[in-house]
Amino acid sequence: MKTKGAICWGPGEPWAVEELDMGEPVAGEVRIRLASAGMCHSDEHMRAGDAPSPYPLLGGHEGAGVVEAVGPNVTSLEEGDHTVSTYIPACGRCVWCARGQSNICDLGARIMGGIAIADGTYRTTVKGQGAAPMSLLGTFSPYITVHESQAVKIRDDVPLVYASLLSCGVLTGFGSATKIADVGPGETVVVVGCGGVGANAVWGAAMAGAARVIVVDPSPIKESLSKQFGATHWFPSMAAAAEPIRELTWGVRADKVILTVGELQPEMVQEALTLTSKGGVMVLACLGKVSIDKVAMKPFWLSMLQKQIRGTVFGGCNPRTDIPRILDLYKEGRYPLEQLVTKEYRLEEVNTGYADMLAGSNIRGLVRFDESDYC
Ligand SMILES: NC(=O)c1ccc[n+]([C@@H]2O[C@H](COP(=O)([O-])OP(=O)(O)OC[C@H]3O[C@@H](n4cnc5c(N)ncnc54)[C@H](O)[C@@H]3O)[C@@H](O)[C@H]2O)c1
Ligand SMILES: [Zn+2]
Ligand SMILES: [Zn+2]
Repeated sequence: MKTKGAICWGPGEPWAVEELDMGEPVAGEVRIRLASAGMCHSDEHMRAGDAPSPYPLLGGHEGAGVVEAVGPNVTSLEEGDHTVSTYIPACGRCVWCARGQSNICDLGARIMGGIAIADGTYRTTVKGQGAAPMSLLGTFSPYITVHESQAVKIRDDVPLVYASLLSCGVLTGFGSATKIADVGPGETVVVVGCGGVGANAVWGAAMAGAARVIVVDPSPIKESLSKQFGATHWFPSMAAAAEPIRELTWGVRADKVILTVGELQPEMVQEALTLTSKGGVMVLACLGKVSIDKVAMKPFWLSMLQKQIRGTVFGGCNPRTDIPRILDLYKEGRYPLEQLVTKEYRLEEVNTGYADMLAGSNIRGLVRFDESDYC
């Protein structure tokens, strides 16, 4: 079938909406008609060439929609199911899935290769070339054809347009606070960078009972926006936050610091550790250039003050259990999904959406598809 999608033709090139040819789902695959696509910073890293990517790259890895066609041997989904796509496949069988750590499923090794899990070929082509879908999803298109390990069936009474945020940003941020940082009641938490991931870390920390949730973000608009998610304080930089945090905590500093800036810089690791208390935890959720192999860190004080640095992918969340749980919270009025969307865009405006993200004006930008986008 013919459809369209936002393609990046090479590192540093802008997104260009092109006509796509999409094959029928093969064994193990489904085609999903998407309601929306969230605009995560990780697509920008791939577009900019911060990480190795096959090109042409079909962008987008946050998406939710309805299953429209089912290939042979699919067992977990049927036509008409409402789904959230997940940027890391969960096979359910590897040792990590069996341990309850589907976010580090062995199939994750495939997501930057661009070729379909089902048969090692390209399902979508652009101008006769195989298009590599971001995280094997490519949600900057009204349709995706994906392996069933990358689509989670959800309840059908939640708005699909907001459910797409659960593909990545919501769980990465929420899980960074609730699982990886393991925030507890009364703690002081610092979230550095309040975008699509950070806002959910703020909400997660607040839900977990943190006494103070301190946001650091250079964008002044994030002062009021972050407070909608439960932030108690805002500072424009880690340097500006250091002394007030020391005072607020009677010299203890923050129990947990979660780093979710758009692009990690090497000096930020030590800056974040400086805000972390003795015995505290610093979570590294954001990405920088893959070429970074040295960061600032004072190892003497890491040991002597018994601090920990923890990395995370997808906030340590398990897509098949945690996506439905967040949607249950949403239905109970306890997860502000709508508020996460600062602005909606047409697919053709995806470059404008990313410019807004880089200017720090959005919590999350969202591409909403409508009838004119479907074929
Ligand atoms: N680990 C994972 O599984 C995972 C998943 C999703 C995204 N990510 C990464 O997490 C990061 C955040 O993603 P996002 O979509 O929320 O990005 P975003 O661009 O929406 O948000 C980043 C925020 O950081 C702020 N910021 C920029 N420079 C800063 C600084 N020096 N100090 C404090 N704040 C600063 C920006 O103003 C913005 O509000 C990206 O690097 C992304 O690639 C990682
Ligand atoms: Zn697995
Ligand atoms: Zn993402």
